[in-house]
Amino acid sequence: MERSKDVCVVVAVLMLCSMMVNTASSMSMPEAENSNEELRGNLLANGLGLTPQMGYPVMTRALTKADRPIFFSLCEWGDLHPALWGFKVGNSWRTTNDISDNWNSMLSIIDLNEVYADLARPVVGMAPLLLGCDVRNLTKGTFNIISNKEVITVNQDSLGIQAKKVRMEGNSEIWAGPLSGNKVALVLLNRATVLHSITGNWDDIGIPENSVIEARDVWEHKTLKTRFVGNLTANVGPHSCKMFVLKPIA
Ligand SMILES: *[C@@H]1O[C@H](CO)[C@@H](O)[C@H](O)[C@H]1NC(C)=O
Ligand SMILES: *[C@@H]1O[C@H](CO)[C@@H](O)[C@H](O)[C@H]1NC(C)=O
Repeated sequence: MERSKDVCVVVAVLMLCSMMVNTASSMSMPEAENSNEELRGNLLANGLGLTPQMGYPVMTRALTKADRPIFFSLCEWGDLHPALWGFKVGNSWRTTNDISDNWNSMLSIIDLNEVYADLARPVVGMAPLLLGCDVRNLTKGTFNIISNKEVITVNQDSLGIQAKKVRMEGNSEIWAGPLSGNKVALVLLNRATVLHSITGNWDDIGIPENSVIEARDVWEHKTLKTRFVGNLTANVGPHSCKMFVLKPIA
């Protein structure tokens, strides 16, 4: 199951909500975050006596004075909900604690980030794809996954609207998001330890009910021969997922 797991890790990364939208000109002082006064007090009492929201803008201003573009990746582990203000000071922001290389960790990060899919939708696009490893030591399998151009194309789509979970039935989840050209990205995620047949219904994923759809499996690099109307059903292995790009053809 190694490969499936890796595939899903990449999908998780695609769906994470640490998002990037910024240009230097739009950077400004963020508004105070009132939702967690106690944590704020603790942060102030520590170290430099700065909350992230006080400290980051100072760095932001310094970086914008540099004579070259610098990617500013905020990391306060999601404590003060940077999904709500990070776009004003940085290019990306961590929304959670560290992820580790296992199924449970990956799913817990997806779950934690789900809340931001709606909150952040109006202001931000898709999660930046950041790679944190020694690139000299990538296995061929991992390299194939992270360099999958079809998957990266979904992430970089010009519409810039994140996918979100549209349905959950037991251990089966259906995630979907609109793409440019009336296409739709669909992910069928099986959290169970046994194979499940999972159905994505047009109703749930924002496709008009009579649309005829051509489906591209972007992990397998295959366009399915079947044309789909109303829904798409696939068998998804244990702790695994399938990802399709759906294109209306009639
Ligand atoms: C990664 O590869 C480099 C170069 O071959 C090597 O020096 C290094 O020890 C490797 N790191 C790990 C964690 O295997
Ligand atoms: C999928 O749609 C077809 C055609 O509308 C319908 O006959 C079938 O029952 C649907 N399948 C599921 C699993 O919803």
